Amino acid sequence: MSSGALSVREATKVYDPDGARVVALDRCSLEIGAGDFSVVVGPSGCGKTTLLNAIAGFHELSSGEIYLDGDLLSSPTKPATPGADRVVVFQNGALFPWMTILDNVAFGPLAAKGYSKEEAHALARQKLEDLGLAQIAFDYPGQISSGMRRRAEIARAMTLKPKVLLLDEPFRALDALTKTVSHQFLMEVYDRDRPTVFFITHDLDEAVFLASRVFVMTTRPATVKKILDVPLPRPRDYRLLATAEYQSLRDECQEAVREEARKAFSKGEREM
Ligand SMILES: Nc1ncnc2c1ncn2[C@@H]1O[C@H](COP(=O)(O)OP(=O)(O)OP(=O)(O)O)[C@@H](O)[C@H]1O
Ligand SMILES: [Mg+2]
Repeated sequence: MSSGALSVREATKVYDPDGARVVALDRCSLEIGAGDFSVVVGPSGCGKTTLLNAIAGFHELSSGEIYLDGDLLSSPTKPATPGADRVVVFQNGALFPWMTILDNVAFGPLAAKGYSKEEAHALARQKLEDLGLAQIAFDYPGQISSGMRRRAEIARAMTLKPKVLLLDEPFRALDALTKTVSHQFLMEVYDRDRPTVFFITHDLDEAVFLASRVFVMTTRPATVKKILDVPLPRPRDYRLLATAEYQSLRDECQEAVREEARKAFSKGEREM
């Protein structure tokens, strides 16, 4: 049976540092099927990372609930608990600079799953291979390119065989070509392992190219403005970008995002 279905129900998150009340999520509800590739887009500061952090178990909701496969993951009364079933890949990366890439990637199964060193290394080598990084296994993070570091982080996350892979603008800082290569590897890993993916981006080409479904969020406080299904066949490659079907989905996505960005500007928020 496939697993990794997420259900976000009326999630509200209010930050209240020193009495400066910021409502980041307001009764936000969304359903993500097991094994879906969901991409979340929306104006800057609308609450995307806040939602990801609640799913990851980094903070509690102010009200509402999040369920994973029907089990309560988050609510105001349930202490936030991260778990190896929900792994996060951050924008700024988190590889240990003093460890080789192989040791970095093997770290999760060693620490979180109780694997032997041999087992953890075998798994890490497989994931490095999957992400086209076999040749840099013994390099240190400082010796490889930023695109390779991002891929190494995805390899590290996938060694934990998570039900849900959470990615917060993982390729934001990459140049266009490196991004393209990273997309291809991520798609291959997704097609092979089929985790449920929750991927945040501001790049609409990236969103439509990768997603099974795009959630366009409103300006803060975030709720779902529009759900765009992307029924393009997989495996996907870059020839897809030239098709009329892709272009039409991308235009539809852009229209929804533009409308919200305009509202955000008029409310004095930052750009999309
Ligand atoms: N720890 C915090 N304490 C107080 N306010 C916060 C905190 N984290 C986020 N916020 C505020 O909550 C709102 C939503 O922030 P969040 O980081 O979720 O937005 P985002 O959609 O991820 O933005 P971006 O696209 O810029 O990454 C913003 O107004 C932000 O300033
Ligand atoms: Mg963010």
